[in-house]
Amino acid sequence: MKRRRFLMASGTAITATMLFGVASMAEKETDAGAKDARSRRPDPDKFDVPILKALAFGLNAPNPHNTQAWKFKLINETEALFFVDEERLLPATDPIARQIHVGCGGFIALFEVGASSFGYRAKVEYLPEGDYGFADIGKKPVARLSLQRGDIGKDALSKEIFTRQTIRTIYHGDLVTDDEFKKVIKLTKPEYATIELFNDPQSLPSVLELLYKGMEVECNDWNVFEESRKWFRVKGDIAVKKDGINLRTGGTEPGFNLWLTETLLQVDSKKLWHSEYAIKGVLKGHYEKVMSSKGVVIFKTDSNNLIDWIKCGQDYVRFQLAAYNQGFCLNPLSQVLQEYPSMATLYNQFNQMMEVEEPAKIQMAVRIGRSNPLEYSYRRNPNKSMTTNL
Ligand SMILES: Cc1cc2nc3c(=O)[nH]c(=O)nc-3n(C[C@H](O)[C@H](O)[C@H](O)COP(=O)(O)O)c2cc1C
Repeated sequence: MKRRRFLMASGTAITATMLFGVASMAEKETDAGAKDARSRRPDPDKFDVPILKALAFGLNAPNPHNTQAWKFKLINETEALFFVDEERLLPATDPIARQIHVGCGGFIALFEVGASSFGYRAKVEYLPEGDYGFADIGKKPVARLSLQRGDIGKDALSKEIFTRQTIRTIYHGDLVTDDEFKKVIKLTKPEYATIELFNDPQSLPSVLELLYKGMEVECNDWNVFEESRKWFRVKGDIAVKKDGINLRTGGTEPGFNLWLTETLLQVDSKKLWHSEYAIKGVLKGHYEKVMSSKGVVIFKTDSNNLIDWIKCGQDYVRFQLAAYNQGFCLNPLSQVLQEYPSMATLYNQFNQMMEVEEPAKIQMAVRIGRSNPLEYSYRRNPNKSMTTNL
């Protein structure tokens, strides 16, 4: 009801073709059995309307807790307004909604790269109704996205849209070298953020230790850890809800442990989740993974405003596509960058360690290495954020 009002108030023009395209989007449900990205997400090849096709590429973007907190107002066959969905925010871990806007930047990057793969140039008008504060999230758009036909050539990164994923496992091999990093940066073509690699064998462990400690704080702050539980999915819920996080994309191998943990979480999720036993297990596994990293990459902006968050997200996702192209994988470790009270001490320690002073801000801290692909995460059918209005 609310969403219907949202769309109608805008006087949106929806053409018959678009309606048809949207309807067929809903019919072609994904195959919940397969574990690759294409079969778990809306497939751009199934859309004829250019704007829907490009939005379907955008939906593959990494985003905090996979809440997919975005919604769209269709304008015509080549244009849409793009908003954060204020009903899917993460108030405990992302109290100022910075990270979701980083995720929006990632969406825009994939919208652009995806559009190039079918002969369209993407145009992005950022914050078309001006900068906004927390109260206007979901009311004012992040961007006006439009497409122009023209052979601009396929972006070389487009072939990685369905290979990229967040890989939360133990990483193998050698530390990432400066030359390897330079190659990734060359492919990324960053436009906004300063991107730095930490790969010094002497100092890397202390950077990793600090990033790990962020998880200790998260697990021991009941409200913050509870938010993760609410977005945690087990067993059949994973394919039905198609959002949130789960053990399978978290790197737990199929087998008895996975079955037992998921079964126990189904029985009494809250009690188990916050138990000393479970927290100890989570932290032990996390420590091993973090310390196996082959480098840490940080994404920094000179100021810390809405536009910095969005544009940094674009560079992050282009970097991710480029890294996967070069055989690397990534896993953000965002805890120490988050703006909630119990994290303040580590937040400041990390800034000091990285020699960053406000208003500059590290928007992303990401471990890098080599590992094997995991099960891919799902994306909801976009009719959840768009077509239910029709
Ligand atoms: C701004 C931002 C912060 C994130 N922080 C974390 C994090 O701290 N730990 C983590 O494991 N994943 C983190 N992620 C990754 C998301 O959880 C992931 O993108 C989402 O679950 C979808 O999975 P996918 O990237 O494999 O498609 C972050 C992503 C974004 C965009």
